[in-house]
Amino acid sequence: MSKQRTTILGGAVLVGSVVALCGLQALGQSEPWTVADLLDGPLRVPDDVALRGELEEALDFRIREDHDLMLDAWEPGELITNARITQDLLEFRHYGNDALFVFGDELFEYAFRPEDGLGNNLNRDNVPFAGPLARPNMRRAHVGAFGGPDAYSCASCHFMGGPDGAGTATQNAIFFSTDGDRTLNAESRNPPHVLGLGPVEALAREMTRDLLALRRQASADAVEQGEPVAVELETKGVSFGRLMALPGGGFDLSEVEGVDADLIIKPFGWKGHQPTIRAMAEESFRIHMGLVSTDAQRRIRDGELSAAAYGDGPWYDVDDDGLTLEIDDGMLTSMVAYLAQLEVPAMRPPHTPRLQRAFAQGQRLFDEVGCAGCHTPVLELRDTVLETGGHDTEPIFIDVAREGEFPKPEPKDGFETAFLVHLYSDLKRHDMGPELASSVGQGDIPATHFLTRSLWGLAETSPYLHDGRAPTLDAAIVAHGGEALESRRSYQALSLEERGAVQVFLLSLSRTPAVFIP
Ligand code: HEC
Ligand code: HEC
Repeated sequence: MSKQRTTILGGAVLVGSVVALCGLQALGQSEPWTVADLLDGPLRVPDDVALRGELEEALDFRIREDHDLMLDAWEPGELITNARITQDLLEFRHYGNDALFVFGDELFEYAFRPEDGLGNNLNRDNVPFAGPLARPNMRRAHVGAFGGPDAYSCASCHFMGGPDGAGTATQNAIFFSTDGDRTLNAESRNPPHVLGLGPVEALAREMTRDLLALRRQASADAVEQGEPVAVELETKGVSFGRLMALPGGGFDLSEVEGVDADLIIKPFGWKGHQPTIRAMAEESFRIHMGLVSTDAQRRIRDGELSAAAYGDGPWYDVDDDGLTLEIDDGMLTSMVAYLAQLEVPAMRPPHTPRLQRAFAQGQRLFDEVGCAGCHTPVLELRDTVLETGGHDTEPIFIDVAREGEFPKPEPKDGFETAFLVHLYSDLKRHDMGPELASSVGQGDIPATHFLTRSLWGLAETSPYLHDGRAPTLDAAIVAHGGEALESRRSYQALSLEERGAVQVFLLSLSRTPAVFIP
């Protein structure tokens, strides 16, 4: 939604330690604090001319949106043309990443309709996992890979705290119902925000490469030496346990931790089940809106994917709604280009001396009570170029540290040899104990295991935890169990004031302030 968003405090919000330092310098202040101090000091409002220009741009956008909506009512189909870029068109026009971002932005907002392929026309008598209603056959609870469908647009669940934000409790998706009717036996999942995902995917890919290289080397050594070789699976300072390579070429994976047996880091979803933004977008279109991708249709045709989970129609219209083109490669590519180029969340420490002291203390305590053991404050990214595209199509390349919206990850040094990604996660799964567990496991991931949720952007994403059970940060921390039990107990042993300080620090994990014209 970049076009609708006017950043009034641009340039003032730096990321991470830089801001933390400024905050500390201000600790000596004893004068009462005023808004004027704030605007002279750490935050800056653009001058009148710049501000007027930005507001005019935002209003102009609003007027065009109203116009497009009415035009679409008058000439149906007008709106989808702004949101849908098919693979053919993408290749023909040689669109750049900035243009793909605009298409992806529209696609994220667009409210799909039955005439675009929303939902399905399946009959529950023939397809038991489908809903009981007429086309588009929406319902609240999902069944497996088929999903609901439960929504009309991506933005309808991802908007809290601003565009591309999280969802509140009423936007929870209800996964894994046994019959699609009852919600109680199902798994409630709260929508996370979708900012900064480009750098996250790039980090995960680097970590995967490291783990696979360690495995390859250990295997070669084991074969050469004719005996088992153990290797510590460590990447970017995060340990994924130990792997034993066997002389016959096999592996003993019994001591591998926090990652699947394929050693591919999957940084998306609360349980960490998807490796790429593309896979997450494909899944989201399917389960939330009943929009089946052209890629899935092709794989059903070629026998690589079983149609059984999608419906009983022919391969080119497996959900039997009369639409063949629902989500093609180009549309997925534009969605990836959009999400991968969004801003990253930013740290925004408080401005009054008292709270600044609490912030500094909270940041220290976060480390001391062991939160940082899983919520790793910063991971270093080297290879910033992501590749995405369909199966047989030319890929596009996106530099996630340089292209798209600001802020971007902070360069580590003047040579930009690496970038600091302040995401507060180790991208590893942990056992969080029986109380926090899901109602069921997900694939091979046990009910008790979750990916360390990144904490950047946290201030804008309540309620917290995978099912949104925690209305406050304190409640979220106290719900930690399993591997986090010791850390949670240390937190609970702090004084009330110290606990408050940890929360003040957490609330600084936010996003760049902006004016929205909805
Ligand atoms: C009904 C609400 C809902 C709708 C609609 C929805 N999402 Fe989500 N989204 C969620 C939930 C819940 C999760 C967490 C999923 C999980 O745990 O597997 C999520 C997770 C994601 C993630 C992973 C974020 C992360 O950090 O793990 C991405 C990317 C995403 N959604 C993109 C989309 C896109 C693109 C669309 C539209 C095609 C969409 N979502 C529509 C609820 C929704
Ligand atoms: C053993 C690893 C581990 C430790 C230690 C840990 N966490 Fe977490 N944290 C997680 C995981 C995993 C989740 C996601 C839980 C879920 O999906 O419901 C999480 C979730 C959270 C959330 C909710 C995030 C959201 O977006 O809803 C907060 C806040 C949080 N942790 C803060 C802390 C604090 C503060 C500490 C230290 C007292 C801490 N954590 C220690 C693993 C850990």
